[in-house]
Amino acid sequence: MHLKLKGYGLTADVDAFQFRTTRSGCSFSEWEHITAEGFDMEEALTYSIQLNAGQEEDLAELDTGPPVLAFQSLGLEPPEEPSGAGTVAPPCTRKERDKARSKARRTATRVANREKVDVLLDGRPKHPRHLARNVKPIKTSFRLTDTSIASTGWIGLRDNGVCAAEADSDRIEAGPSPTHELHDFLGRNKVFTGFGYVKFKDPSTRPVVDKTDKVVAVVAGMPDDPNFKRDVHDRAVEAMEAARKKASVSEERQSHRRGEFIQLTTGDSMGGGQQEPGALVNGAINAAILASLVSSEPFVRLAGFATGVFANWAPNLFDFYVSYMGRFYAKYAHLSRPFLNGIFSACTFNLGPQTCALGHRDFNNLAYGWCAITAFGDYDYRKGGHLVLWDCKLIIEFPPGCTILIPSAAMYHSNIPIAEGERRYSFTQYTAGGLFRWVEHGFMTEEAYMKRLTRQGRREEKALGLERAEIGAGLFSTLSDLLAGK
Ligand SMILES: [Fe+2]
Repeated sequence: MHLKLKGYGLTADVDAFQFRTTRSGCSFSEWEHITAEGFDMEEALTYSIQLNAGQEEDLAELDTGPPVLAFQSLGLEPPEEPSGAGTVAPPCTRKERDKARSKARRTATRVANREKVDVLLDGRPKHPRHLARNVKPIKTSFRLTDTSIASTGWIGLRDNGVCAAEADSDRIEAGPSPTHELHDFLGRNKVFTGFGYVKFKDPSTRPVVDKTDKVVAVVAGMPDDPNFKRDVHDRAVEAMEAARKKASVSEERQSHRRGEFIQLTTGDSMGGGQQEPGALVNGAINAAILASLVSSEPFVRLAGFATGVFANWAPNLFDFYVSYMGRFYAKYAHLSRPFLNGIFSACTFNLGPQTCALGHRDFNNLAYGWCAITAFGDYDYRKGGHLVLWDCKLIIEFPPGCTILIPSAAMYHSNIPIAEGERRYSFTQYTAGGLFRWVEHGFMTEEAYMKRLTRQGRREEKALGLERAEIGAGLFSTLSDLLAGK
């Protein structure tokens, strides 16, 4: 597959890795099992707190480089420690702490450069053709291009928490958590009409197709592993429960436009007034917790799984990510994706304890990109936790452990609430549209880029926004494309 995209300046011409499926037809990623053993969250927290004792105002600096102990857990070169036998005294003075941080950062960059063999971004996927055979698509009557995105074509439209269907009803959400129940969509006295119900059928992966047969979303299910619940789901829940208890979370991270649940986010981003891309900022405690989560086997496996599903069901879009992010990370060697075996540049751990989202679009993500959502917990998925895709008019059963990929910047989505006493968590992976725009614009801001253009160039750039949206939507494959190996 060789892509030349008008409106996007890059060409996907890299070669190397392959995705597979199991005999039962489940998607399989060979990176699913990359692990980082030996990481100890307690140790990481203790070290991090010692390093930053009394330096609250400087905590953000830690986030400009990968967390120090994550390198040790990966078997890479750890930062040099002060001399002395046995236990190492933590740096005491501000000068010593600055020196330690600076040294850790230099080491991290050195290691990152030396170890820079990226199996995802240095390789081009070979996509299997047989996945789309015998598949039972979830058909919808909506068209992807009917969704609204920003005029630049890079990100979604900011939403005000009310979609058209809600605005037309007398049931606009007013509280901090979703209140639309299943019977509001499907019952005799339903408020919202025209919605279809999708039952979860284990273990097959089911694509959601739009009116033009494009695969716009995928209900991926779980990896084909009989021990998945024990080894991945339950361990992930344990880790997220522990993380919630230890996290240092501000009010706004507990109650926000997506609902009322605790969120921790890590990775690289560009947007919201940033002058250049960088790692998302977390304080010392949350950074250590996040380092532990992204190094743990359950999440590493889920990152690989979601990436494998992405490459299988939207190969052209996936190549687009490989192409742009390959250039991005080649230039910014000090930055790295949360998961080496995952294509996405950022992820969020929604730690609940009742993660149910209000209606929203994740407008900072790539306008027609995909976001992978994995749900966890202990809830009756036939009664609550469903994913509501308002544009497609679908209510999808979303059992614990299941992964679903959707264009979250373009599609308005929410969850059906779960019952009192139940627990629900989720893990989302995504990439900001601003990172793609940064690459496209020769690594500069929109403002700087526009300043360099002639008046005619600026007019053309504005017109290109509309074209970009069309091209972005064109990157999604139809089922017949997939069968033909296109
Ligand atoms: Fe979302």
